[in-house]
Amino acid sequence: MASKFLIISASLNLNSKSRVLMQELLTLLPADVEREFIDLQDYDLPMCDGGPCYTDPIVLKLQRSVANADCILVGIPVYNFACSASFKNLVELTGRAWEEKIVGFVCAAGGHSSYMSVMNVANSLMLDFRCVIIPRFVYSEGSSFAEGKLKDAKIKERLAELKDTAVKMTSALAKKAALLPE
Ligand SMILES: Cc1cc2nc3c(=O)[nH]c(=O)nc-3n(C[C@H](O)[C@H](O)[C@H](O)COP(=O)(O)O)c2cc1C
Repeated sequence: MASKFLIISASLNLNSKSRVLMQELLTLLPADVEREFIDLQDYDLPMCDGGPCYTDPIVLKLQRSVANADCILVGIPVYNFACSASFKNLVELTGRAWEEKIVGFVCAAGGHSSYMSVMNVANSLMLDFRCVIIPRFVYSEGSSFAEGKLKDAKIKERLAELKDTAVKMTSALAKKAALLPE
């Protein structure tokens, strides 16, 4: 069965750099994997209130997309030395749908100091939902882009490495799961 990849672009900035990275990553995926691309700019998501938000039809749609994926690769803007609130809100809204997913991170930051920004949310995904975090992050700075395009060969290489690792890990864990009793 084909692996199912979900690519999420979490930035709400119309000129998002992390979205450019996720569009590039999408083109690198092998032809035989199923893929869905979710750009949070296309969804009018409520803020998580721990209650009525969980009945919102858009939230339910995104929960289904997350639950349906084997591997989720997320493009994240770094805000205040952490993942943006837009991504944290998505995790809060979709919660258990993340259970046992393989998750990879691609970050766009302004400078070089915030490279541990995904750790808070990575820990939460591991501890709450037993996600397997791909130990290969892509971290880009503003200087990697020019005129809205990715110009940095090193970042292109890192995206290809993330894609290779994601494909390998997803296939290896699917094979292992098939051997385990229910
Ligand atoms: C509110 C805010 C907070 C930010 N905080 C950081 C930060 O802590 N570290 C950093 O390197 N860049 C920071 N930046 C810069 C962004 O990470 C940068 O603009 C990046 O391109 C955002 O991703 P995006 O282009 O996909 O939206 C911040 C930007 C904003 C608007």
